Amino acid sequence: MTSQKPAVIVHGGAGSIKDDSLSARLDGCKAAALAAWTILEHGGSAVDAAEAAVVVLEDNPLFNAGTGSTLNRAGKVEMDAGIMDGDLLRAGAVAAMEGVKNPIKLARRVMEDGRHVILAGKGALLFAREIGFPECPPHSLIVERERKRWEDKHGTVGCVALDSTGKIAVATSTGGVFHKLPGRIGDSPIPGCGTYADDRGGASCTGMGEAIIRIVMGKTAVDFLSEGIDPAAAARKALAVLEAKTGVQAGLIMIDRKGRIGYARNTTHMPVCFIADGETIVVDS
Ligand code: GLY
Repeated sequence: MTSQKPAVIVHGGAGSIKDDSLSARLDGCKAAALAAWTILEHGGSAVDAAEAAVVVLEDNPLFNAGTGSTLNRAGKVEMDAGIMDGDLLRAGAVAAMEGVKNPIKLARRVMEDGRHVILAGKGALLFAREIGFPECPPHSLIVERERKRWEDKHGTVGCVALDSTGKIAVATSTGGVFHKLPGRIGDSPIPGCGTYADDRGGASCTGMGEAIIRIVMGKTAVDFLSEGIDPAAAARKALAVLEAKTGVQAGLIMIDRKGRIGYARNTTHMPVCFIADGETIVVDS
């Protein structure tokens, strides 16, 4: 068994953040990174760590994921979440999903179940019922901020984790974009787009999902690692491709198999927190 130094990075979404909520968002990212780190430092798996970090962010109403998700054109919360285990290329996701508090946990169950990769809408809810997954009233996920139609289009959350056995996992969760059409599915639940991991590295993306899907951004970023560059350079290159091909704003976080961390954004902000050696906790926006 490899004895790899674990590493973790989380993001709280790329976009423009009002000054009064930036430090609270950075605190939220730190709490999520520490939840993942606690698992990793005790020898837990990258998949468990990535899921745990995203649960913390889904439960924090400041972020556009789980509780606090943005509303669609019908005034409802419809969430997307995806998780990928880079070791075995297993992936699971739920999309356009209502009525569960932590969609990332259900995405994990889809992955463990193994029959399918993505379940959407009513089908995802049917699966939840089939496995006895706890449901919640859809309105309980709506926070006052969203009710007032405060617009924060890009508050997707994500985590990339590397465990002590050298395995990489990624988890991403989002309420999607404000005022989207019911049934719209973004990049987060689609392997290779908003969420991607293999044995070279992992990436979680944030920004306008339609553009991220078109350039298969997560896989594009991890493919750049094969050129021998580090994740910081790979993230910048993937973002440059997105900018050149679509002109859209976004951000992404990455870890490679050596535990090197990278992130890039072309937005005003993207709160991130990473822990690479267990002692240094870095927050940045
Ligand atoms: N990146 C999140 C979304 O577009 O749904």
